[in-house]
Amino acid sequence: MMPPLRLAGTLIPAMAFLSCLKPESWEPCVEVVPNITYQCMEVNLYKIPDNIPSSTENLDLSFNPLRYLGNRNFSKFPELQVLDLSRCDIQAIEDDAYWGLNHLSTLILTGNPIQHLGLGAFSGLSNLQKLVAVETNLDSLENFPIGHLKTLKELNVAHNLIHSFKIPGYFSNLPNLEYLDLSNNKIRNIFHEDVQVLHQMPLLNLSLEISLNPIDFIQPSAFNGIRLYGLTLRNNFNSTNIMKTCIQGLAGLEVHQLVLGEFRNERNIENFNKSSLEGLCNLTIGEFHLAFLDDSPDNTIDLFNCLANVSAISLVSKTTISVSVLSVLVVSAVVVLVYKFYFHLMLLAGCKKYGRGESTYDAFVIYSSQDEDWVRNELVRNLEEGVPSFQLCLHYRDFIPGVAIAANIIQEGFHKSRKVIVVVSQHFIQSRWCIFEYEIAQTWQFLSSRAGIIFIVLQKLEKSLLQQQVELYRLLSRNTYLEWEDNALGRHIFWRRLRKALLDGKPWSPEAAADAENCQQEATTAT
Ligand SMILES: *[C@@H]1O[C@H](CO)[C@@H](O)[C@H](O)[C@H]1NC(C)=O
Ligand SMILES: *[C@@H]1O[C@H](CO)[C@@H](O)[C@H](O)[C@H]1NC(C)=O
Ligand SMILES: *[C@@H]1O[C@H](CO)[C@@H](O)[C@H](O)[C@H]1NC(C)=O
Ligand SMILES: *[C@@H]1O[C@H](CO)[C@@H](O)[C@H](O)[C@H]1NC(C)=O
Ligand SMILES: *[C@@H]1O[C@H](CO)[C@@H](O)[C@H](O)[C@H]1NC(C)=O
Ligand SMILES: *[C@@H]1O[C@H](CO)[C@@H](O)[C@H](O)[C@H]1NC(C)=O
Ligand SMILES: *[C@@H]1O[C@H](CO)[C@@H](O)[C@H](O)[C@H]1NC(C)=O
Repeated sequence: MMPPLRLAGTLIPAMAFLSCLKPESWEPCVEVVPNITYQCMEVNLYKIPDNIPSSTENLDLSFNPLRYLGNRNFSKFPELQVLDLSRCDIQAIEDDAYWGLNHLSTLILTGNPIQHLGLGAFSGLSNLQKLVAVETNLDSLENFPIGHLKTLKELNVAHNLIHSFKIPGYFSNLPNLEYLDLSNNKIRNIFHEDVQVLHQMPLLNLSLEISLNPIDFIQPSAFNGIRLYGLTLRNNFNSTNIMKTCIQGLAGLEVHQLVLGEFRNERNIENFNKSSLEGLCNLTIGEFHLAFLDDSPDNTIDLFNCLANVSAISLVSKTTISVSVLSVLVVSAVVVLVYKFYFHLMLLAGCKKYGRGESTYDAFVIYSSQDEDWVRNELVRNLEEGVPSFQLCLHYRDFIPGVAIAANIIQEGFHKSRKVIVVVSQHFIQSRWCIFEYEIAQTWQFLSSRAGIIFIVLQKLEKSLLQQQVELYRLLSRNTYLEWEDNALGRHIFWRRLRKALLDGKPWSPEAAADAENCQQEATTAT
């Protein structure tokens, strides 16, 4: 008989050997679709996991402290199609970091404080269609090493530090580019030479989104002879005069869809004067949308004489939209008194379905209209752009006032949202409408018996004010909630926690991202 010590000496290595023979484990990641989709969000990875099958096509590594991407870091995953590196604290990306990823079509780098980007950082990505580099400290497109990405369709560099509108010459190598999002940067001027390259590519079918840049000058005729599919300028001008001269500067542009205006509550222009739109007469426009600028509807009649050939005009303004919301409110109030419970279901049914068949919303968002800008610019952008992409049900675009309610729609609508996000703010507490919606959400939670309410607290709230809403106060003090902080660390923690909360119970499908994009249409009121 072996002495116990020797026995242990034999058994331990043997056990270690046997454990090596066990089928490979992909811990700590979650296997969503075997051999295809792995989800490794926030599992404290310092390096790319090597125990995931090389056949993986979709990999979510978001919220891990990867910090540094070196040469050929992903070469073990030649089949990758979608790679999410959101908020991985990545500060440097070396040359050939994505070497071998010839099938990658979507790369998400949102929320990384990138300081060093090798000139060959994106080399090899011969099939990349969508690059999301929101909040990555990018200060210029000129040095962004993407000139070889011939297949690129969508480039999102919103929320960065870009000062110049200069569309670099390398764009002439990107003939498939359809969407360039430069919103929320630091662009002040647009000069003729900035858009020179667009003259060289007459077939380009490009939509430009430049909202939320503090533009005060557009050089006259800078856009003369240029054709765009779309151009969006919201919250760009801080006075009617600046708006007027900038619109005159657009003379000669041919654009299928032009969107001008502001966001509902971030209004820079106090006294809108329709004469500031005169310059539009020198543009060729297919569809025209004006949001939250014009307070008086009778202003609009003669405004558009020179837009006679425009196929669609829509105006969203304080008088139109809020009137309809108001009337919904009044009608609701009456209905509530009579059929409170029934109405709860109706309201939720107001969110029309995305896409076909079974698709659902990840969350129904309840917020005060005063916080709509935050919802649009932060919540929607961060949640609908990521992988997995979350689909939100928002009343400003998904809610159909006065929709016919049949019992089966109620059933359907009721089951369409997995969660409810409640955006709590000073405005929220003061708004009866929100409290009302919130009560509905509670009913919903009660009925569906799913633990579904996520609270987001936007600002520090005065306790006394909060206490007036007894029920809300009780819930907030009893539950954990997410507090929004607008700084790098605060954002990181916030989005990580929120995504985690939303992922709970979500079926993971990257294709859903494509569906969501088809449904970005805003609820507008046509005149
Ligand atoms: C995953 O890949 C392995 C190795 O290629 C294979 O043995 C296994 O059958 C695959 N599993 C599925 C579900 O396709
Ligand atoms: C990338 O590769 C380098 C060296 O090959 C390694 O030091 C680093 O940890 C890798 N990074 C990640 C995030 O795996
Ligand atoms: C141009 O791009 C828009 C989307 O931005 C798309 O709907 C349209 O079909 C494209 N047109 C062509 C001719 O490719
Ligand atoms: C408008 O913007 C200019 C600079 O772009 C700034 O100097 C000015 O104070 C702003 N005016 C208002 C009313 O915000
Ligand atoms: C609008 O601007 C035009 C020219 O700048 C001016 O003549 C007109 O009085 C203004 N209208 C209002 C209502 O301020
Ligand atoms: C349209 O362009 C012409 C020539 O550039 C200019 O004289 C005219 O003032 C412009 N009209 C408007 C309304 O800006
Ligand atoms: C509208 O189109 C017609 C035919 O193309 C053209 O003759 C007319 O000048 C256009 N009107 C305006 C205001 O652009």
